[in-house]
Amino acid sequence: MRQAAVVVLVLMGCVALSTPCARAVESGAGVRVLVAYYSMTGHTEKMAQGVAKGAREVAGAMVSLKRVEEVTADDLFESDAVIVGSPVYWSNMAGPVKTFFDNWQLKFGVFPEFKMRNKVGAAFATGGQVSAGKEVTMLTMLAAMLGNQMIVVSGGGAFGASATTEGNSPGIDEQELAGARALGQRVAEVAAIMKKGAKD
Ligand SMILES: Cc1cc2nc3c(=O)[nH]c(=O)nc-3n(C[C@H](O)[C@H](O)[C@H](O)COP(=O)(O)O)c2cc1C
Repeated sequence: MRQAAVVVLVLMGCVALSTPCARAVESGAGVRVLVAYYSMTGHTEKMAQGVAKGAREVAGAMVSLKRVEEVTADDLFESDAVIVGSPVYWSNMAGPVKTFFDNWQLKFGVFPEFKMRNKVGAAFATGGQVSAGKEVTMLTMLAAMLGNQMIVVSGGGAFGASATTEGNSPGIDEQELAGARALGQRVAEVAAIMKKGAKD
């Protein structure tokens, strides 16, 4: 009877926390996660810090946090996973983030070898308005990753983590930060599963 109660409590906990109880990743040892972002007024940077914190929750994961302008070829190619964040500019990624993706080829020469192939990719975004381009922004960043034959995943939301930063929802609130952490954690977990699978 007591055992049954424990099982029910655990299941209730899974539902309440919306956590993936089906699979727990024991170790992210050796997994490198790069969180790269652009931010003019600090909102996307705060989300980026949340994403990095979530990735660090996977034991052993090595996480670096950089502005897109500072990312080097080595940063990219040594990573097992890359999570890119942008503010919404006119319903799309901001110019510096597009330049960052363009530089994968123009500066770093990812093509024709597809040097980012099979790395895990994900996206996050902040936008001033509730419905004015956050999902398009994430999808266009994911499209750039798909074009590079990366394995894109979501987390914190259907297309990645996002936050509304103006009007009735100024700044980044706790729920939005929790979404950012969930994205970082999921990406590190998937990267760990991929890395382990490649070794087996
Ligand atoms: C040039 C420009 C265009 C913008 N376009 C949009 C837009 O289309 N949709 C939206 O929701 N917010 C838009 N915003 C608001 C920013 O996305 C929002 O303030 C964002 O959180 C800023 O991020 P940051 O603090 O990291 O710079 C725009 C801001 C700028 C400067």
